[in-house]
Amino acid sequence: MKLSKLPTELTDFKPEVGLILGSGLGFFADDQIEVVGHLTYAEIEGFPVSTVPGHAGQFVWGHLEGRRVLCMQGRFHFYEGYRMEQLTLPIRMMQKLGVQVLFLTNAAGGINPCYVSGDFMLIEDHINFLGTNPLIGTVVDVGARFPDMTEVYDKALRQKIREWAQRQSMRLQEGNYLATTGPSFETPAEIRAFATLGADAVGMSTVPEAIVARQLGLRVIGISCITNAAAGISSGPLSHEEVTETADSVRQEFTALLTAAIALS
Ligand code: HPA
Repeated sequence: MKLSKLPTELTDFKPEVGLILGSGLGFFADDQIEVVGHLTYAEIEGFPVSTVPGHAGQFVWGHLEGRRVLCMQGRFHFYEGYRMEQLTLPIRMMQKLGVQVLFLTNAAGGINPCYVSGDFMLIEDHINFLGTNPLIGTVVDVGARFPDMTEVYDKALRQKIREWAQRQSMRLQEGNYLATTGPSFETPAEIRAFATLGADAVGMSTVPEAIVARQLGLRVIGISCITNAAAGISSGPLSHEEVTETADSVRQEFTALLTAAIALS
């Protein structure tokens, strides 16, 4: 899959900051960005279309804290049946448009026993448990064939974000995100296994995008909203409704954190 031509609205806008809003977090674009334009994914030639409820499936771009931001309201997931190459296409497009720093957000289940629903976790590192890699088979025109992944999530920017949160007395966790394919939630035995592997949170996204972004040399920040305790840690069954409800309940704090993170980048 190739992007034959970049949308001219976007090449004219010249975004500097990329932002992907995860499950239940799409409100950020409507609430915070001084919107210049919208484009649904369906309007872009060669682009896949998102199918999950709560994922609007469009680019929104505009100004935030003096920065030119290109935002994906809704992302593509492996469990929707897209190939890795398809679901990371937006990252390649962002890089071609001039984006230099990428903010990846997601909803995740908390594995670390100290985490509670509604916490935010700055992703310190990830574990790719997807069983595949988004760089398999790609022809490298930019970046390395064997890119280094020692520091996927920008250390200096993470420190600034942590310091900001401390000044605000905001609870901000930092930990390892493990990506599974989904779409079924995990079993309690899987969650116990992931805990022994060093995972603090589990989700179904972010890792493919982060790998491609690093291969292309973008700075990356990942922020998880812990929407539920992971299977077996939680008292009852898990549901997508719980995920979106929790994300919605921390709307203000999430907005403040992400706005500050973008301003600090
Ligand atoms: N598991 C996987 N993905 C998730 C979860 C979870 O518990 N919560 C939100 N996304």
